[in-house]
Amino acid sequence: MNVLVTGGAGYVGSHAMRRLLAGGHEAWVYDNLSTGHRAAVPRGRLIEGELSDGESLARVLRDRKIDAVMHFAASALVGESVNNPALYYRNNIVATIALLEAMRNGGVWRIVFSSSCATYGEPERVPIDENQRQQPVSPYGFSKLVVEHALDDYAGAYEFGFAALRYFNAAGAAADWTPGPLGEHHEPESHLIPLVLQVALGQRKEITIFGDDYPTPDGTCIRDYVHVDDLADAHLAALEGLRSGTAWKLNLGTGRGYSVREVIHSCRRISGREITVREGPRRPGDPPELVADASLARSTLCWKPRYTEIDEIVQSAWRWHSTHPRGFAYVEAKA
Ligand code: UFG
Repeated sequence: MNVLVTGGAGYVGSHAMRRLLAGGHEAWVYDNLSTGHRAAVPRGRLIEGELSDGESLARVLRDRKIDAVMHFAASALVGESVNNPALYYRNNIVATIALLEAMRNGGVWRIVFSSSCATYGEPERVPIDENQRQQPVSPYGFSKLVVEHALDDYAGAYEFGFAALRYFNAAGAAADWTPGPLGEHHEPESHLIPLVLQVALGQRKEITIFGDDYPTPDGTCIRDYVHVDDLADAHLAALEGLRSGTAWKLNLGTGRGYSVREVIHSCRRISGREITVREGPRRPGDPPELVADASLARSTLCWKPRYTEIDEIVQSAWRWHSTHPRGFAYVEAKA
């Protein structure tokens, strides 16, 4: 298939792009590089553009004879979405509708969409299955839920086929570094594993644990860390399985939760470095425990995460961060 990967210069998108090419598909990244990295995209595969630019999108869909879209481009910070919801309504909802309209006009009906466990909000039960009530507690989560609804309606009325993949905590870095290294690089960084590894590298003084009085065994929050290569595999399987009218909404996680303290211990074990920890207050909006029941993705996509141990996930992240302490800035400076 000829596939357009929006946001393919970003963390999950760049890993999915690599998987698509390895799987024998033709693929191009469509990205405005607002948060993505040029060096994360294979040479000759980047189309710089805005999702809101309908003419540019229509041209790309037509000229590259696009059969399917993987849609990663979005703003993805829960806290930022609370302080600046307009950005999330514009980037995640309005821009996605523009993309869907360009697809409809161009006769492209297959789409794999990056959704999030943030669409559930505070879960009623853990592990979380797809039948749980979706009641997001942030504009970010709400923006992803609105797009899921739009996709349902487009599938019903216009025979789109879609998969909305609800990731839990994306983590780790590519195992395969051909044609170039690939890993996680956010500016500013807010995710736990990269922050802890930056402490291990001496780039930060300490890691603050956001709350140690949660009702969990060690008092810190539990999350389901899913390797970015496993996410990429699920995207490919979903894409290849789409039929007109398919409406998949699937959790992507390992089904296993690790606490903040367990993640920090793993980072100590893998890096062999000192990591100074400070206990701080809770971060507003953090549920105590988010763990996926991903059995529907397993049965629907025949998908099974290869990485289930936190040490394996941290090991792949450490390989990237320890050799690329400035992320893609380092790769770009070398090029
Ligand atoms: N944490 C700390 N200290 C830090 C950073 C994080 O203790 O300096 C804790 C958080 O409180 C949380 C865990 O580490 O318990 C993981 O935090 P992240 O920020 O890495 O990830 P989140 O669970 O907040 O966010 C993830 C995805 C979002 C998604 C969200 C849904 O990255 O895209 O899950 O809740 F929206």
